[in-house]
Amino acid sequence: MNERIQFLQQRNSAARLTEPGPSAEELESMFSVAMRAPDHARLRPWRFLTISGARRNDLGALLREALLLREPDADIATLDKASCAPLRAPLIVAVITCFCEHPKVPPVEQRMSAACAAHGLLFAADALGYGAIWRTGKSAFDPHVQRGLGLEPGEEIAGFIYLGTRQGPPKPLPALQPADFVQSW
Ligand SMILES: Cc1cc2nc3c(=O)[nH]c(=O)nc-3n(C[C@H](O)[C@H](O)[C@H](O)COP(=O)(O)O)c2cc1C
Repeated sequence: MNERIQFLQQRNSAARLTEPGPSAEELESMFSVAMRAPDHARLRPWRFLTISGARRNDLGALLREALLLREPDADIATLDKASCAPLRAPLIVAVITCFCEHPKVPPVEQRMSAACAAHGLLFAADALGYGAIWRTGKSAFDPHVQRGLGLEPGEEIAGFIYLGTRQGPPKPLPALQPADFVQSW
């Protein structure tokens, strides 16, 4: 079996992540991979925010505030879980979709390009030996979180990519059969 195909077939998200995260140099190469996403009219409909170190606590505070605004009756345990969520990895990359008006490229295509960029980050993390997982949850769609992260009108969060060193063994890959999903037409 072709090694590169084998590598691609084995990408696997990792929910349990610890130090170290990718270095600045590694991260730069990961962004280069992300930006090889297919991109109709080369609009580059993405940008990335890196959140690490103590800034993860600030993100946690923002997630907690947003949760409280959404659910004023949320209990302390749920609020604490929101505050601690960003501490689940040494580094988080928020992938932002940046929409623009284009006669041939509707928003859905721009959103798909940014999603491909996020997927590129997952593959690049795997290639460098790091673990990663794409997370959203209600907070990704929450206007308070979007404002707190400095999103402009016409932007949205495609996802939070949690990155770090995988803790524990990789989870088993699902045994999906292409034949169950592919028909010839
Ligand atoms: C747009 C998007 C949002 C996701 N949000 C979450 C999330 O908030 N929490 C979570 O545990 N997994 C989330 N996932 C799923 C994980 O990233 C991952 O794909 C899943 O755990 C399956 O693992 P695998 O990628 O190794 O097959 C999301 C995936 C996508 C594409």
